[in-house]
Amino acid sequence: MITNTALEYKGNLFPSKVVSYEHEGDSISFNTDNNVILKVTILRDSLIRFRFTTKGYFSNDFSYAIDKSQLHGYNFLTVTEEENHFEIRTSKVKCKIKKADLRLSIYDLNDFLILEDELGFHWEESYEYGGNIVKMSKSSKDGECFYGLGDKATQMNLKGKRVENFATDQYAYQKDQEPLYKVVPFYIGLHNKQSYGIFFDNTFRTFFDFCQERRNVTSFWSEGGEMNYYFVYGPQMQDVVTTYTDLTGKPELPPLWVLGYHQCKWSYYPESKVKEITSKFRELKIPCDAIYLDIDYMDGFRCFTWNKDYFPDPKKMVAELAEDGFKTVVIIDPGIKIDKDYWVYKEGLEKDYFCKRADGPYMKGKVWPGECNFPDYTNPVVREWWAGLFKELISDIGVKGVWNDMNEPAVMEVPNKTFPMDVRHSYDGNPCSHRKAHNIYGTQMARATYHGVKRFVYPKRPFVITRSAYSGAQRYTSSWTGDNVATWEHLWIANIQVQRMSISGMGFTGSDIGGFAEQPTGELYARWIQLGVFHPFCRTHSSGDHGNQEPWAFDEEVVDITRKFVSLRYQLLPYLYTMFWQYIEEGIPMLKPLVYYDQDDTQTHYRNDEFIFGNHILVCPILEPNAVGRRMYIPRGEWYNYWTNEFATGGREVWVDSKFDEIPVFVKAGSIIPKYPVQQYVGELEFDELVLDYYFKIGKEKSEVYEDAQDGYDYKKGRFSFLSFRTIGKEKEVIIQLHKEGKYETPYSKYKINFFGLPFKVTEIEIDNEKFEFNSADFEMNGFLIVDKEFSELHISGE
Ligand code: GLC
Repeated sequence: MITNTALEYKGNLFPSKVVSYEHEGDSISFNTDNNVILKVTILRDSLIRFRFTTKGYFSNDFSYAIDKSQLHGYNFLTVTEEENHFEIRTSKVKCKIKKADLRLSIYDLNDFLILEDELGFHWEESYEYGGNIVKMSKSSKDGECFYGLGDKATQMNLKGKRVENFATDQYAYQKDQEPLYKVVPFYIGLHNKQSYGIFFDNTFRTFFDFCQERRNVTSFWSEGGEMNYYFVYGPQMQDVVTTYTDLTGKPELPPLWVLGYHQCKWSYYPESKVKEITSKFRELKIPCDAIYLDIDYMDGFRCFTWNKDYFPDPKKMVAELAEDGFKTVVIIDPGIKIDKDYWVYKEGLEKDYFCKRADGPYMKGKVWPGECNFPDYTNPVVREWWAGLFKELISDIGVKGVWNDMNEPAVMEVPNKTFPMDVRHSYDGNPCSHRKAHNIYGTQMARATYHGVKRFVYPKRPFVITRSAYSGAQRYTSSWTGDNVATWEHLWIANIQVQRMSISGMGFTGSDIGGFAEQPTGELYARWIQLGVFHPFCRTHSSGDHGNQEPWAFDEEVVDITRKFVSLRYQLLPYLYTMFWQYIEEGIPMLKPLVYYDQDDTQTHYRNDEFIFGNHILVCPILEPNAVGRRMYIPRGEWYNYWTNEFATGGREVWVDSKFDEIPVFVKAGSIIPKYPVQQYVGELEFDELVLDYYFKIGKEKSEVYEDAQDGYDYKKGRFSFLSFRTIGKEKEVIIQLHKEGKYETPYSKYKINFFGLPFKVTEIEIDNEKFEFNSADFEMNGFLIVDKEFSELHISGE
């Protein structure tokens, strides 16, 4: 393992002076007299790619991470040559490149220095493998903070830390343990109220050092491949994250049921056990939409088979579960059992689809079924074959979602827990060893799975979840944070990991609620579910060998808390769905760490616990036993305590009381929160009104509600309903303006508008300039109005 950075190693090589440059279209290439070329590509005014070679020419340009459908184009570009440097200018930034050594610096248009090379690009030749160990170091400003990088189990702010990216099956990982399951080589830097981003698109093992080795230096390096990175200009973190997400892509909408609650365990079997679990949810009135089958549903852990003793008629079972509102999700791992009587193995072998060692034999490794071969998902032909394997599972049996696991890839009983590094991969026509393909193996598996599930579930929408992922995987799949532990520390970790995934472009994520390994106390489980319902993906999962982890495995109080919070999630489904829409449309993360929400407030820079769920709800989990409340930071602005409706001004740390059946939740003043009635599963009820909770504020605020048929693709043809609300609160007046878009007719006909915090007695109401008759005593008492959904302006006033 190579962990030295620039200074430690004396054999570093550096670019020498620039001898020529060419400007062609959006790219400028600088050639040095020691064969280094720096190619700068302007993708947008605020998005610049820097690519280096030391060979005098570039290898084929190929990336799994970049979304090819993203839009390119800039408004302005000039390149000028000065005495000692070149200057590239766009309408957002200026980049200076030194002629002597290619070191570069990036400024905004006010000449404010955003990012500057320290040693800049340098490299070390790799004698063992060929190619280079490529390195980059940047000067870091005092007070600079760093965020991003996916699933790291450490503080939100990465300042002072070194992290490693190598997808790893890390059972029962600990705080600060590295590396973990996912690889997102993207970070956000923040200093002087300016954010920028760096995406180092290199699938080899990579490292990032955020001022750990040297106080004022940030560096990143890789064991192979190219120094190939993207600079993203802010200045707001919002701009950085949305641009990065655009670059690496966004998912399609999941079906709405996927945003419901999911129940999982290793493993529920036989069929009678599965039904006992699902019935209990209905009996206890804890909403639930999905039930999972872990590896034991298979015949000897052979993917795409069933254990007929446990599940004699899977099709019938899946149909019966569906009648009760449960969608069945099954696990599929990459390891294919070596068994000459097993059809998947036979096909893979006949077609030569399995990964091979450098000298020819198939890569063999132990996983659940024993000795396995592994499909090379980096081969498009293999992905196509894999997709086809889902036909029976999805089309015939009726499974609705697939869970990809062990795809780091994980191998048992070997020291490095994965493939040997000499294993060969197609890499979509760029043949390479496992050193390069390791980090994207899981993503390519999930991609093939996604195409398979989508093909057979069509015209409905697919659902895929993966454990391993590389940047861009969000285009195909959701994810979970792997094998965590039932400890309070892991609850803290889960909270940060899911926020961090959100600002790393991969927001559709959750943790195993209650912890995978070991057994939570009822209190820990309750605190976890209270957080988990505010995560984009919400599933209880456990290893099963430490006891049961269904809500009723704990006492009645915990069952009540689970019901209360899962029901709240179901009420908030239209709010969650709207968050998802904003994510897929604009790349806006569904969870926003406080620093993302208000980067100008330095109080937010080191906060871990509090986050904004969507745009308008502030959540802060309880992370300790026996708590009766906690101190938390309320970000600047005006808020209402969700439970008490008390008004709170932000920009300060406060104590918030929180009984066992609550965690601190605040709603932003001025906002409108849409709610559905509690349903036991998505689509259970037909209802005739959408609830809108309005929280009074003097001033203006915008809220949105996205809805559609909740599944299928009609939304892509404009069949959605998009409501934009603008609220204007004055001392004795509230105006709610509504603008509608889209061709989808929502089934309800009315809104029930709840008013919170009105500081005046309502005497008059007008809807679209016409007087609205209402009973003021009723309104005074209940605080709500029922209005026809076809309005554009609601005006209430009083004294
Ligand atoms: C891995 C997964 C876990 C799953 C288990 C058995 O440990 O992370 O979620 O339950 O394998 O398939």
